Amino acid sequence: MRYEVDFLVVGSGIAGLSFALKVAEHGRVCILTKGDAAEGSTRYAQGGIAAVMYDSDSFDKHIQDTLVAGDGICDREVVEMTIREAPDRIRELVQYGVEFDRVPNGKSPAGAPAKFDLHREGGHSEFRILHHKDNTGEEIERGLLEAARRHPNIEIKERQFAIDIITQHHLGQRVTKHTPDIECYGVYALDCDTNRIDTYLAKVTLLATGGMGNVYSTTTTPVISTGDGVAMVHRARGVLSDLEFMQFHPTSLYNPAEKPAFLITEAMRGAGAVLKDRDGKEFMQKYDKRLSLAPRDIVARAIDNEMKLSGKDYLYLDARGIGKKHLIEGFPTIYAKCLSIGIDITRDMIPVRPAAHYQCGGIKVDRNGESSIHHLYAAGECSCTGLHGGNRLASNSLLEAVVYAHNAAMSAIAKVESGNWKVKNEVPDWNAEGMVLNEEMVLITQTKKELQEIMWNYVGIVRSDLRLQRAFDRLNLIFRETEDLYNRSVLTEPLSELRNLIACAYLIIKMARARRQNVGLHYSLDLV
Ligand code: FAD
Ligand code: SIN
Repeated sequence: MRYEVDFLVVGSGIAGLSFALKVAEHGRVCILTKGDAAEGSTRYAQGGIAAVMYDSDSFDKHIQDTLVAGDGICDREVVEMTIREAPDRIRELVQYGVEFDRVPNGKSPAGAPAKFDLHREGGHSEFRILHHKDNTGEEIERGLLEAARRHPNIEIKERQFAIDIITQHHLGQRVTKHTPDIECYGVYALDCDTNRIDTYLAKVTLLATGGMGNVYSTTTTPVISTGDGVAMVHRARGVLSDLEFMQFHPTSLYNPAEKPAFLITEAMRGAGAVLKDRDGKEFMQKYDKRLSLAPRDIVARAIDNEMKLSGKDYLYLDARGIGKKHLIEGFPTIYAKCLSIGIDITRDMIPVRPAAHYQCGGIKVDRNGESSIHHLYAAGECSCTGLHGGNRLASNSLLEAVVYAHNAAMSAIAKVESGNWKVKNEVPDWNAEGMVLNEEMVLITQTKKELQEIMWNYVGIVRSDLRLQRAFDRLNLIFRETEDLYNRSVLTEPLSELRNLIACAYLIIKMARARRQNVGLHYSLDLV
């Protein structure tokens, strides 16, 4: 089947939905999403979204905190723009119907709503995290999805897996990374129910495909986070950047059988919980004067080191000092989750370990969210704007997604309304030749596990030249085997995801090897 729209959006998390709601006033929008529309990292966000809302805080302080966390390599202009735009984007989320917690019994002068209740997280010098209890992402996803479903110009198509973006390559032209004007005409997408590959043509395409946490064996990200957008742009010869900066969240719940790993929000440390070793002693004083509230790269490395010194698989987060009432009312999701596996966080310490959490790098975009490929935009976790530098400040991700979805929408609307760009009708349909291979599933699942272990052990929190070389050599074998499988079989979602994970792993290793200085999240023993 062939479809034509004005705006094509791949992904229905905070970035894709925010963009769609804005451009929908100016044309027909189709959102493709590979699972259920609500599934993605957005719905699992706990802590919240950072913004300067009141005079007790200031833009300068939030800018400074972001630059410090980013370890000196953020793009300062991008940081300033994003943080200054934040309050406007928050007000829009509220207009779409998203609810953030307000100060209990807060005064409402002249009928105005009470002030927002603000949390604090690692690396923030102020309380500035807007939240909805400890399930902020679920509330944001609900509010945006309901608004999108109400909009007559937006069609949401679930279980549609974007395989590749369509460029001149598909018109038979040779495209290399030196080709000056690569253009995007839309995407090919696999209908996961019928196994048919459809052609979607659009005037503008936005990739909002989220992160790639599943490159690693332990991750807080949902199974859909397989780096599809980044891999598609890599294959289309677009520009990618900063992929060596994979962020490991210091505190995921230690419950080895569970995938993805359940997050214990940093807001809990903001409320007073402290990290302790297996003997119940605090240890962060050995690593940073900000103790348990130091930026994530520092805390994750400290935990990794303590685990290696003691030979243990986890250590503890002690939240008991927060108090029973605050814990149960303020962190109901975490309280219930821990209780379900026999841990009463009002009485017991919580076993935690780091987990791959967020990819700071991605598809390189300018301040309008436009990639190096014409008419292709990217927003949210799959993009690299320059905001995060070497390490993302907590709760700046949801913020970046709404700010860049807005900027991209404004730019895309102008492009479409200029009328200079027509849908490319001569694009051929996908050639779906191939055999159905019965052994395929076991080959895919086993290879995926191998890949995830290689990346966890050799390209994790602490790296070295030798570990990166080993990872690269082993990946090469996996790559060749998987390409062989791809060339012989019909395309399926698991095979496509595996190829994308391999491409992302390759890019992470390549960029990690090229970074010859320890900065932010990239830490190599050979560069100390
Ligand atoms: P996602 O929400 O991940 O959505 C991606 C979408 O793309 C999905 O709809 C998916 O189905 C679709 N998709 C992907 N590939 C394809 C394909 N090939 N074809 C079709 N569709 C595709 N950040 C904060 O700022 N504050 C927090 O408190 C916070 N907490 C977090 C807690 C957890 C457990 C996790 C995992 C992350 C957290 N983050 C937080 C990070 C933040 O949630 C994510 O970076 C953000 O939600 C990403 O939004 P997104 O729209 O870019 O992608
Ligand atoms: C958390 O709640 O700790 C996650 C916040 C984030 O990833 O920004």
